[in-house]
Amino acid sequence: MTPARPAPPPAAVTVVGIGADGWEGVPDGSRTALLDAEVVIGAPRQLDLLPPECAAQRITWPSPLRPAIPGLLAAHVGRRVAVLASGDPMFYGIGRALTEVLGAGAVHVLPHPSSVSHACARLGWPLEAVEVVTLVGRPAARLAAALHEGRRLLVLSADAGTPAEVAALLRDRGYGPSRMRVLEQLGGEKERTTASTTADDWHDEPGDPLNIVAVECHRAPDAPRLGAVPGLPDTAYEHDGQLTKRHIRAATLGVLAPAPGELLWDVGGGSGSIAIEWMRTHPSCRAVTVERDPVRAERITHNADRLGVPGLRVLTGAAPAVLAELPTPDAVFIGGGLTAPGLLDACWEALPTGGRLVANTVTLESEALLADAHRRHGGELVRLAVAHAVPVGGFTGWRQAMPVTQWAVRKEQRTLDPLPGADR
Ligand SMILES: C[S@@+](CC[C@H](N)C(=O)[O-])C[C@H]1O[C@@H](n2cnc3c(N)ncnc32)[C@H](O)[C@@H]1O
Repeated sequence: MTPARPAPPPAAVTVVGIGADGWEGVPDGSRTALLDAEVVIGAPRQLDLLPPECAAQRITWPSPLRPAIPGLLAAHVGRRVAVLASGDPMFYGIGRALTEVLGAGAVHVLPHPSSVSHACARLGWPLEAVEVVTLVGRPAARLAAALHEGRRLLVLSADAGTPAEVAALLRDRGYGPSRMRVLEQLGGEKERTTASTTADDWHDEPGDPLNIVAVECHRAPDAPRLGAVPGLPDTAYEHDGQLTKRHIRAATLGVLAPAPGELLWDVGGGSGSIAIEWMRTHPSCRAVTVERDPVRAERITHNADRLGVPGLRVLTGAAPAVLAELPTPDAVFIGGGLTAPGLLDACWEALPTGGRLVANTVTLESEALLADAHRRHGGELVRLAVAHAVPVGGFTGWRQAMPVTQWAVRKEQRTLDPLPGADR
C-alpha cells in the first residue's frame, strides 16, 4: 500500500500554475483547488483561461503588485483564495513575492512546467546546461555578463520587442554570429518557433509578447574574449588612468572573496572595475560604488552597462560623508580617498562582524594610515609589485609599475581588553 501523502498545512493562499494551454493543461489537483476557491486572483490573461464552472470571485492584480499583496489578502481572510501564476509559480513567478511577504508556510504551491522546461524540451537542450536570464523589468544590458563562446542562454522576454533588443545587444557586444530562435506561446495552440538565424541577420518581424529567446553564443573573431573570473583586460574598461590594473585587480578580488548575494562598497570607484568584477562573479552579487568625480561616476555606469552589470549602484559624492546612507556591506574596498579624514574609520565601523575590508594604495601617506590600521586591527599587509617586459633597444627589460600596498582584514568579534592581572 502506498503511504498517504501528508496533507499540506493550512495555507493563506494556494498558488496554481497554469500554462498557455489553459484549463486543458491544468492537472486534476490544481483544477480542484481552483474549482474549490472562493476567490481567484490573477492577471486578466490568466483569469480568461478559467472555464465558467470556476465560480469564484475573480480579481485582477493591481499594479504595482507586491505592495498590494498584504491588503488584498487581508480583505479576503477566512475565504479560500487561489492565485494564478504562469507556468511554475516558483520560477521567476508570483510564488516568490507571496512567500517573501506571507512566509513559505502560508503559501501552498501547485506547480506547472515552466516556459523554460517547455523551451528545453523543444530545443533538445538539457535544462541544467542552460543559463536563464530574465529581461522582465530589467535592462537588456545584463545579458552581456552571460556571453561566453558556446554558451546556451534562454532569455525570458518582457514583451514582443525583447527579441530585437537581444539581437541588438549581441551585435553590439561582438556576439553577432550567435544563433537565435524565438519560441512563442509555449505549450499553447498558438505555439510557434522561429527559424534559426544569427543576431547579425536578425530581421525584426511582429511577434507574440509571450516568448522566450534561445541564444547559442558565438563571438565574432575580432571581439574581445572576456573570461568568467576577475582580471579582465584593462582594455575592457573606458578609463582616464584611474583604474586598478588587471593583475592587482585579480589579486584584490581574490582577497575580497565575493560570495553569492553579498554586498560590496567600492569606495573611490574610479572606473568601477572592482565593483563590476565583484558583481560579475554571480548574478546575485550586489555592489555600490562611491565616486566623487561626476565624470568618472558616469563612466562607471557606462562600464557597468558594457560589462553586463547595469544593477551596479553608482553614488556620486565624497566619502565618508555619503557612506551613512548606504546599507550594511559584507565587504568594503577602498581604492581612493584613504587620506580623507575619517574615511578608513567610517568604513571599519560600517563593517559587521565577519565583514572584510581591503584597501589599496600607491602613496606613502596612505601607506602610513594602512600600517597604523594594521597595528590596531590586525589582518594582512602586503606589497604587490608587477613588472611588464618591454623592449629595451634590441633587447627586453622589466618596466616596474608603482608597487601597491594592500591591507586586508576580516573584522572579528570584538573582544574586551583583559583586566590587568587577569591572566595570573
Ligand atoms: C585609483 S582610483 C580607483 C580605481 C578603481 N578601483 C578602478 O579600478 O577603477 C581612486 C578614485 O577614488 C576617487 N576618490 C578619491 N577620494 C574620494 C572620496 N573621498 N570619496 C569618493 N571618491 C574618492 C577618485 O576620484 C578616483 O576616481
